[in-house]
Amino acid sequence: MPVITEINDLKRIYRRRVPKMFYDYCESGSWSEQTFRENTSDFEKLHLRQRVAVDMSGRSTKTQMIGQDVSMPVALAPVGLTGMQHFDGEIKAAKAAEEFGVPFCLSTMSICSIEDVAENTNAPFWMQVYTLKDDDFMQRLFDRAKAAKCSAAVITVDLQLLGQRHKDLKNGLSAPPKLTAQSVANMMTKVQWGLGMLQTKRRFFGNIVGHAHGVEDASSLSSWTAESFDQSLNWDRIREFRKMWDGPLIIKGIMDPRDALEACNVGADAIIVSNHGGRQLDGALSSIRALEPIMDAVGDKIEVHLDSGVRSGQDVLKAVAMGAKGCWIGRAFVYGLGAMGEAGVTKALEVIHKELDLSMALTGHTDINTVDKDILMIPKDFS
Ligand code: FNR
Repeated sequence: MPVITEINDLKRIYRRRVPKMFYDYCESGSWSEQTFRENTSDFEKLHLRQRVAVDMSGRSTKTQMIGQDVSMPVALAPVGLTGMQHFDGEIKAAKAAEEFGVPFCLSTMSICSIEDVAENTNAPFWMQVYTLKDDDFMQRLFDRAKAAKCSAAVITVDLQLLGQRHKDLKNGLSAPPKLTAQSVANMMTKVQWGLGMLQTKRRFFGNIVGHAHGVEDASSLSSWTAESFDQSLNWDRIREFRKMWDGPLIIKGIMDPRDALEACNVGADAIIVSNHGGRQLDGALSSIRALEPIMDAVGDKIEVHLDSGVRSGQDVLKAVAMGAKGCWIGRAFVYGLGAMGEAGVTKALEVIHKELDLSMALTGHTDINTVDKDILMIPKDFS
């Protein structure tokens, strides 16, 4: 086993172990992938201010996200098809998150269902919900999340239409994978992955199959998905979703200060500044660039989180310094999961935690809650 010291180490192992179709699904952005690239490269444009001769002992990265205690300001983002990256992937990731003391958020488009995850974990997890036309299905999803003791719901508002990813179209992405000569040849080289997949007892797309009208198997899912996303979504409709869920609510996919203010008005508890990891509007600003104007607009009206491009503890530190109460990681945990299952997700969290802890100390802080903009050097044209 190679020595793993950074998230990129996990990505290299992940690439070797998981079929190309699912690696590409994770490791791609929409169209030219400009936003996907800038999500990570823009973090490098923010510099940290080094301080010395400050007592750096007794450090803590503990804080709260939407009032819940977390061991560091990081949550696992909802990622569709996580169960195709590693068998029972959603359960494995949720267990690693629970052990580490950070929130796990289950995607609507997961392989394991809400009930599968609830039965196999102890800590309450968070549930992500897409904005779909079918009110009955939406209400049932919220009710199932409530019955599973989910402690927050996340409504993703940036996917009324699906951004095009060239690789997914070219690979003929599907779950279960379509058996073509090319995909079979590729999967046969991924022995560990395949043996794992043979063990799983889960139903594909457990949140939807058997629960949405007319969707009895994964093959009828694609036409349902194409028809179900609500292209006519507006803030009144989001207000209706708010009424369907009486617990903490997070709105995910905000990139503009005006939309951030709308989210405050519908009674959300938090927003996630996110461009869906560069998978939706190609050419959109990176999330880290979009953060400051949004912080300025909302002040302390709402808790603000960030995702898209976070690959290190230094990235988390920069977002927190800019005012985010927490960061969500998508690909960074998927790399770990695909590489080594639950232990790989734990490794990803350990790597990020160590980077956050040490970098925070080197900026002169021993408590993540005292970190502010003072530790950053922000270029004039950054936002
Ligand atoms: C996602 N994302 C996502 N978001 C969501 O609300 N529901 C979903 O089902 C998915 N599915 C999904 C699949 C894959 C493969 C990726 C990479 C991302 C977006 C995700 O929650 C998050 O916004 C991004 O992953 C953040 O960017 P990074 O951390 O991956 O750069």
